Amino acid sequence: MAKFNKVLAIETSCDDTSVALVRSDGWVEALESANQDDLHRPFGGVVPEIAGRNHTRVLLPVIDRVVGKSADGWAGIDGLVVTHRPGLVGSLLVGVVTAKSLSIAYDLPFVGVNHLEGHLQAPFLRDEKYQPQYDWGDKPYVGLAVSGGHTTLFLIKKLGEYEVLGTTIDDAAGEAYDKFAKMTGLGFPGGVRVDKCAQAGDSGAYEFPKALWQKGNMNFSFSGLKTAVQNQVQSMPEVERKERINDLAASFQKVVVDVLLEKLKRAVEKAGVKRAIITGGVSANSALRERSELWGQESGVEIMAPPLRYCTDNAAMIGYVGIQRLNNGERSEHTLGVYPQSGIIPIKRYAKG
Ligand code: KG4
Ligand code: ZN
Repeated sequence: MAKFNKVLAIETSCDDTSVALVRSDGWVEALESANQDDLHRPFGGVVPEIAGRNHTRVLLPVIDRVVGKSADGWAGIDGLVVTHRPGLVGSLLVGVVTAKSLSIAYDLPFVGVNHLEGHLQAPFLRDEKYQPQYDWGDKPYVGLAVSGGHTTLFLIKKLGEYEVLGTTIDDAAGEAYDKFAKMTGLGFPGGVRVDKCAQAGDSGAYEFPKALWQKGNMNFSFSGLKTAVQNQVQSMPEVERKERINDLAASFQKVVVDVLLEKLKRAVEKAGVKRAIITGGVSANSALRERSELWGQESGVEIMAPPLRYCTDNAAMIGYVGIQRLNNGERSEHTLGVYPQSGIIPIKRYAKG
């Protein structure tokens, strides 16, 4: 079987149009992402219809530029990889239909990839400025995938073999950040702005609830936190709310990070492994990074969190999953569909929430 040395990967599951060239050892030869924040900002969140329409406008030019960065152009590309689930259907469709068309036009095999699997492989990408800190080979590890759409703890046994140890029963952590930003007038996108305010605030200023804290529970819930913040914000005159925004953000962030880290610790203990990754958009969070690093040093758990460009949605992580699958002999048919749910990752919960 011919080996796949380099693939072109396409990621359009939400509002970022991202294209990458990735080699079989995880080396990212090129990555370009076009973000749509300016288009969604007036609405305070991602508008699916706008996201899909904009992917249609920008995807082919981004592909052209990325292929142009490769010395041998299309001739050096052995296969195509595309995110086909989970995500916004109208957004996924643009990427999948484009990948199918390119597969026919250039006579290249292609494979559809689960977006979450991409996040779980992101720490293993490499480029001129980043190398994974540890080489775990095929050893199992725990993964906390925490983004705008997901907050899930996985035990990753190997590529394609996952167990869900815990997940959110309502909102995702990133969603909570985005809602906090909307309620307090910080705007869109929320995570980075709240994080910045939190760094300048007093995390003990307000007391917000930690849900599902009881022993052994590895699930998450952020809807109670959202309501508590809402009640607090509504009880404050606008002037005071603006004056205390840093303290509000710091108190909110403390609860989110306390919960994420505590559940991650429980999952590592339950799985009996000393390796963990934190991935997804929220893993860009400054407090989550600092505190998880500290915990790793204290506990001897090897922790990796990818650099920011590989934390948030990007095609490089999708390409790395896809090239491994192609080299394992997997191919998608031209009938491949798109799905809003994560699907192929089996749900098995240890803890009841
Ligand atoms: O993985 P991602 O790019 O897209 C999804 O698959 O959802 O994650 C985006 C999410 C958003 O909710 C955003 O507010 C959050 O990640 N985020 C952050 C930070 N940067 C991005 N949340 C907390 N702190 C940050 N620094
Ligand atoms: Zn994502």
